[in-house]
Amino acid sequence: MNYEAMIEARTKEVNEKILSYLPKEEGYQKTVIEAMNYSFRVGGKRLRPFLMQEIYTMCGGTKKIVEPFMAALEMIHTYSLVHDDLPEMDDDELRRGMPTTHKKYGQAMGVLAGDGLLNYAMETAMRAFDLCSQQDNENIIKALQVLFNKSGIYGMIGGQTLDVEAEKTNHELELGELLFIDENKTAALLEAALMCGAILAGADEKVVDQFEKVGSLVGTAFQIQDDILDITSTTQVLGKPVGSDERNHKKTYVTYYGLEEAKKDQERFSLEAISMLDSYGTEATLTLTPESEEAKQIVIALIRRLVSRKM
Ligand code: IPE
Ligand code: IPE
Ligand code: MG
Ligand code: MG
Ligand code: MG
Repeated sequence: MNYEAMIEARTKEVNEKILSYLPKEEGYQKTVIEAMNYSFRVGGKRLRPFLMQEIYTMCGGTKKIVEPFMAALEMIHTYSLVHDDLPEMDDDELRRGMPTTHKKYGQAMGVLAGDGLLNYAMETAMRAFDLCSQQDNENIIKALQVLFNKSGIYGMIGGQTLDVEAEKTNHELELGELLFIDENKTAALLEAALMCGAILAGADEKVVDQFEKVGSLVGTAFQIQDDILDITSTTQVLGKPVGSDERNHKKTYVTYYGLEEAKKDQERFSLEAISMLDSYGTEATLTLTPESEEAKQIVIALIRRLVSRKM
């Protein structure tokens, strides 16, 4: 099976699905909606909605209720980038190969577009209630709790807080603090992707916990690779400025361990995630449908590809 081609094809589908949830650019508030849609439309890898969709299928889900959640998560991720690029945060001028939202629309609109995306993410996720039968209600509520917990102070916002505070401290971070940053600013949204996919498909708590761990490993590896690329790649390939971390005196996994060690750990975390995923469905109590098995193999192929990703 050519999983690479399947990843490409499904990413295109995911992209079309999530774009269909964007608000119309009209009314007196048109400017903020344009600014919200601008960065979202430019598009990135769509990794988080992709993973959510595949884990949903892997856990036996067959309905559309996952779609509003996929769009909502990408809105939250996009808002986190819009705010991350603001002058008071990482002060970057290029994102996804285009001027950052505040460069194009000004700082006030940058702040408001981020707020707008976050708020609209909630409105969007709740559209799942319109698509479901009575029996899904409870799972949708659980997924909402996870989505907003993982993107808030006990997740992404929490990690970003320590990330920006650490820039200003002279001392080195402890390893625990460093892992807190990566696990929260980045891994938390990947955990949300996997967990929401599983929850919406009706997976039991033990399985959801396993996916949280997989998300944590994949997300931490993902941020380590991001830190590596900030040093070793080019702005043209990344579509965002390289050297941003050094300019901002960021304390990263790479500044702590050096490039080589960081690369090794990135691979180790990814392999551990793959082996956890691999064991899913091998228990006697659970037989995977062909669709579930295929989704599992696609997710594994994707994680392999992330290990050596160049952008
Ligand atoms: C960038 O995320 C921010 C990090 C968490 C490292 P992505 O690398 O997934 O960004 P896009 O969505 O592809 O632009
Ligand atoms: C960002 O980490 C994580 C977010 C929550 C946005 P970075 O600051 O390293 O992300 P990039 O490199 O700007 O995409
Ligand atoms: Mg940052
Ligand atoms: Mg940044
Ligand atoms: Mg970075």
